Amino acid sequence: MKHYNIAIDGPAGAGKSTVAKRLAKELGFIYVDTGAMYRAMALYFLRNGIEASQLDRIEQACRNVDVTIDYQNGEQHVLLNGEDVSRLIRTEEVGNMASASSVHKVVRLKLVELQRELAKKQNVVMDGREIGTFVLPDANLKVYLTASVSERARRRFGELKEKGIDADIKAIEKDIEERDHRDMTREFAPLKKAEDAVLVDSSDMTIDEVVDTIKSLINNI
Ligand code: DC
Repeated sequence: MKHYNIAIDGPAGAGKSTVAKRLAKELGFIYVDTGAMYRAMALYFLRNGIEASQLDRIEQACRNVDVTIDYQNGEQHVLLNGEDVSRLIRTEEVGNMASASSVHKVVRLKLVELQRELAKKQNVVMDGREIGTFVLPDANLKVYLTASVSERARRRFGELKEKGIDADIKAIEKDIEERDHRDMTREFAPLKKAEDAVLVDSSDMTIDEVVDTIKSLINNI
């Protein structure tokens, strides 16, 4: 059977993980959430009082910290030095620290090998920021999934509201803009559309529509 790697890149809040998870399930592929790996590293930095600007401490931490992935009932779990931190990494604080600390090459190179190993061994749908441009340049299909800032903020606001968390939509918009800027302008492997990626703008699309669009692209490879 042919070996498939599907790369889905895009900014925060575009719906990558929801779509990638659904696609992987329907195709019988493994879903690899690379953001979770950067979040696990970020949690380590936060717990140890390491700031994103402290490159020497970040370098030292990268030598001591171990991030691994485990699959339980088809779900990805992220282990930080053996501890399952899959739930703990889902906060805004950890997300922002992941964005700030992932600008460092030493952090990125530590995780890229793990990502490439996973993709070599099995069919994967992998989502992130530079999967198509750097991690898996030979992926069978590359999708750049995006949406307007206001729509991404609206979705995030809705998610928080559903969890009973009070939020300010303007503050969320500002956060998203800052995160986009940082992810797109970092020097090493920034977020950008690969030349051979298909652009999908989900601003006015439902999840089902996005999944169907990508499935039809897969049928054509
Ligand atoms: O997708 P996410 O929100 O879980 O990612 C959190 C941060 O991690 C994101 O703002 C930038 C960084 N990240 C990255 O630099 N490269 C990836 N492949 C995935 C995430």
